[in-house]
Amino acid sequence: MPDPAPGPSGGSAGDRPISRKTLLKAALVATTVPLLAGGGVALARDAGAAGVRLAPTPDCDDGDEPTHDQMEGPYFKPNSPLRTSLVTAGTPGVPLTVSGYVFGRECRPVPGVLLDFWQADTNGAYDMSGYAFRGHQFTDRSGAFTLTTIVAGLYPGRTRHIHVKAQAPGSGILTTQLYFPGEPRNSTDALYDPALLMNVRSVGSGRQGTFDFVLDVAQDPTDPPTDPPTDPTDPPTGPGGSWRAGTLYNAGDRVTYGGATYRCLQAHTALTGWEPSNVPALWERG
Ligand SMILES: [Fe+2]
Repeated sequence: MPDPAPGPSGGSAGDRPISRKTLLKAALVATTVPLLAGGGVALARDAGAAGVRLAPTPDCDDGDEPTHDQMEGPYFKPNSPLRTSLVTAGTPGVPLTVSGYVFGRECRPVPGVLLDFWQADTNGAYDMSGYAFRGHQFTDRSGAFTLTTIVAGLYPGRTRHIHVKAQAPGSGILTTQLYFPGEPRNSTDALYDPALLMNVRSVGSGRQGTFDFVLDVAQDPTDPPTDPPTDPTDPPTGPGGSWRAGTLYNAGDRVTYGGATYRCLQAHTALTGWEPSNVPALWERG
């Protein structure tokens, strides 16, 4: 059976119900940036281009359920590269960016969340010998992330999707999948979950998608939304000692590994394969 035409139908939220959170976000920019034709929701980047000052903390519906989990499937590989872009200038496929925030249960954005993405190439194939279309990153201080990739290809038995693992510092791992609106196979894929639909719209020859994760992590509603900036002169307060997988490290923590001393650059939970000598985005010598 031939595959349906590639690419999602842009500009539509598809059959995903529009949540209160989405409406709040739209209301934030609606004063100067109209909603897109076709029901798509204006993105924060449009408001920025229009000179609109956005609230630093995104609105969030504290009635949101945590993001649903889904099976890992057979194509996950550990130790993906640290990178936000999975493509180069010549990568075949429909360009796609996916951006959004990670929230906790109290609607506070969560910085330092590990997001590990993997997906099929434009022909529906996973790279099992290398790391094409695999990469991990961390949410920034505002809890935001952006993935630069292509629209995932179709393969037998599945609708179009992107796999992801999300782990807040010191918390468990959420394994799930993101879906594209308007896909013919969404109605026949038993794994498909409309709660995991991205908002996707067409921009030129590419696509822009948005998705917000809600992780089941406890938060103090009285805490400031993001950590205050760290004074670089502050003494390290973290675990110290030798680097160990499974340990939560915060920016400024110092460890020893392989006989050298490293300083943590951003909060994360250490995993095997992310030894300080391997991930310069997380650790620097000194
Ligand atoms: Fe898959």
